[in-house]
Amino acid sequence: MVSVAEEKVTVSVIKADVGGFPGHSEVHPDLLEACEGVLEDAVDEVIIDYYVTRCGDDIDLIMTHTRGEDDEKVHELAWNAFQEATKVAEDLKLYGAGQDLLSDAFSGNVRGLGPGAAEMELVERPSEPIIVFCCDKTEPSAFNLPLFRIFADPNNTAGLVLDPSMHDGFEFEVHDVIDQKKVILKCPEEMYDLLALIGQTQRYAIKRVYKKGDGDEAERIAAVTSTERLNLIAGEYVGKDDPVAIVRCQSGFPAVGEVLEPFTFPHLVAGWMRGSHNGPLMPVSEEEAHPTRFDGPPRIIALGFQLRNGELVGPQDLFADPAFDRAREIANEVADYIRRHGPFQPHLLSEEELEYTTLPDVLKKLEDRFEDLEE
Ligand code: 13P
Ligand code: 13P
Ligand code: MG
Ligand code: MG
Repeated sequence: MVSVAEEKVTVSVIKADVGGFPGHSEVHPDLLEACEGVLEDAVDEVIIDYYVTRCGDDIDLIMTHTRGEDDEKVHELAWNAFQEATKVAEDLKLYGAGQDLLSDAFSGNVRGLGPGAAEMELVERPSEPIIVFCCDKTEPSAFNLPLFRIFADPNNTAGLVLDPSMHDGFEFEVHDVIDQKKVILKCPEEMYDLLALIGQTQRYAIKRVYKKGDGDEAERIAAVTSTERLNLIAGEYVGKDDPVAIVRCQSGFPAVGEVLEPFTFPHLVAGWMRGSHNGPLMPVSEEEAHPTRFDGPPRIIALGFQLRNGELVGPQDLFADPAFDRAREIANEVADYIRRHGPFQPHLLSEEELEYTTLPDVLKKLEDRFEDLEE
C-alpha cells in the first residue's frame, strides 16, 4: 500500500500515439481500455491513482505516485500500457500502430524512446487544484504563448497585480530543444529576454515554471510541459510530438480561470496536416477532441483535478463550457482563412520545419536547369 503521509506526490502525464482510428483522428476505445487494465493492476503497487484519456490520436496516461520524476517503475508501467494498446491497434489494423514506440525494448526511461512526459513532484497543499492539458496536431512550444500569459502577463492574470503572494512573479525554465540546453529567466525583470527566446517556437520551449522564492522546488513548481522532440529523436518523420502540460492553480498560483483564459485566443501553432502547417489551437471538450478537418485544426483539452493525498478527484472537463464557444468559432474562421493559402507560407511551415517534403528531390531533378541570374 502506497502511503503519502508526509511524502511528496508526483503527477506523471505520459503520452504516446500507438495507432489512430481512422487515420490520425482518434484513439479507438479498446486501446484506452487496454491501458486502463494495465494501470488498474498497478494501483497500490506503483501508482496511487490514474486517469486515462486521449486527445486526437494520442493516449494520455495521467498517474499519481510517490516515486518522484523519471521513475523507472512508473515509466515502465506507461511503456507496458502502450505496448498492450499497440497489440490491440495491430489486431484492429489501426493506422500507425506503435507509431511512437521507437524501440522494441524498454530501457529504464521513456525519455528518448518516443513517448512524451510531463512530470511534477509537489508538496500537496491543503487544497491542490491542478489542470492537465493534452494536445494533438501540434508541438510542445505551443504552450509558450499561453504559459507566458498565465505566469507573466498582467493583462491575463489579475493575480500578478492583485495577489501579494504572486506579485514577485515567476521563473521560466526554457529549453533549446535542438542543442539540448536550458536557461532560467525571471519575470517580470527579464521578460523581454524571455520573449526574445520563446517567440522562436521552432527552437525554444518552456519546460517548467516556478514561483519565485527560496522554498523547495516541489513547493515552488507551478507548471511543466513535455518537450521531447520526437521527430529529431527518430531522425525521420514519425509524427509531431503532440504535447501535454500540468499547471498548479490557486493560493499563490494563478486561479483556474486565469490558467484557462489564454485559450480564449486560438493562437497559431505548428502541426496540423502532416505536421507541416500552421493553424489555430482549438480548445475543446474531451468529447470533441477528434481533429478531422484537414486532420485538425490542432486541439487542446483541459482536465481539472483536485488532489486528495495523491488521489485524483475529477476530472472536470474545463473546455466543455459555452464560454469557449467563441474561441472555437474564431478557430474555425482562422482555419477557413489560413487554409486558403494552400501550399504557401505562412500556412505551410518553413523548409526546416516540414515533416514531409519533396523539395530535395525537386531541387535534384532541376539541378541542371537552374541558371545564374544576370546582374
Ligand atoms: P485564491 O487566492 O484563493 O487562489 O483565489 C483567487 C481566486 O480564485 C479568484 O478568482
Ligand atoms: P499525429 O502526429 O497526430 O500522428 O498526426 C500526423 C499527421 O500526419 C496528421 O496529418
Ligand atoms: Mg498519429
Ligand atoms: Mg497525434
